[in-house]
Amino acid sequence: MIGVFDSGFGGLTVLDSLVKALPQYDYLFLADSARAPYGARSLDVIYEFTLESVEWLFDEGCTLVILACNTASTRALRNIQQLHLPKHRPDRRVLGVVRPSVEALAGLPPGAVPGLTPPSPVTGVVAVLGTESTIESDSYGMELRKLAPHVELIQQACPLWAALVEAGELDGPGTEWFLRRSLDPVVRSGRMPKRILLGCTHYPLLLPAIRRLVPDEVEIIAQGDIVASRLANWLERHPDQEARLGRGGLRRFVTTDDAEWFSTRGGRLLGRPLAAERIRLRQAGRP
Ligand code: DGL
Repeated sequence: MIGVFDSGFGGLTVLDSLVKALPQYDYLFLADSARAPYGARSLDVIYEFTLESVEWLFDEGCTLVILACNTASTRALRNIQQLHLPKHRPDRRVLGVVRPSVEALAGLPPGAVPGLTPPSPVTGVVAVLGTESTIESDSYGMELRKLAPHVELIQQACPLWAALVEAGELDGPGTEWFLRRSLDPVVRSGRMPKRILLGCTHYPLLLPAIRRLVPDEVEIIAQGDIVASRLANWLERHPDQEARLGRGGLRRFVTTDDAEWFSTRGGRLLGRPLAAERIRLRQAGRP
């Protein structure tokens, strides 16, 4: 199975794109809704929570896990890939969303290698919106400086946006106030970005409201389709991993909080009924 992890139900936006682009595979989606949002938590806590979720997905039979959550991708992925997997799960893979998003933001092909791949065709300023933790990590900045050093990046934290989405507050004057508070520094900075990446799984749900506040000429990019097309490319380049994936039409949804709440919210987001189950995560490394 392909495991897809997010702190909350926003990651269904990524899962939806994956299922559309790669319908042949089995999917298990885990939302740690009981502890979402992750965005204002400390590095250690985000790592601990993410590892517990990844281990749970491994135990259920996932050989490949996608961290759809940007906060987990920026705060936990590197340690999981470099420290945890080699020691405890050498045959499993965990992928994140930052690298593919930066490649897309810079107009580069999948798997771009600095110095070997032709330089990014994008010039000028681009922007990424994310949680406090994602922006504070500077992961987007570091990747872009490696892959396209001539492109200028505005990184903007958007406090409470994910919480508004989790609460179903997708529009209205209160939501608009919070959107303006984070968007104004970007669109009124005097350096108008050509592209704005929604660097959080929850933000595509705010897209209609965001679109009204951003000038028409600015392209707004969501991550779902980017992650799906880059995963398809990764699987072509890793046939051994691709061969391990199940093809039984499985679509399973689990949450660490109330299953009915998740099913209602998630079903609304996907536009079709969804039956989630509640699970309890074990502490990583404990029996
Ligand atoms: N899913 C998280 C992300 O993509 C945002 C929500 C949170 O703060 O947990 O960054």
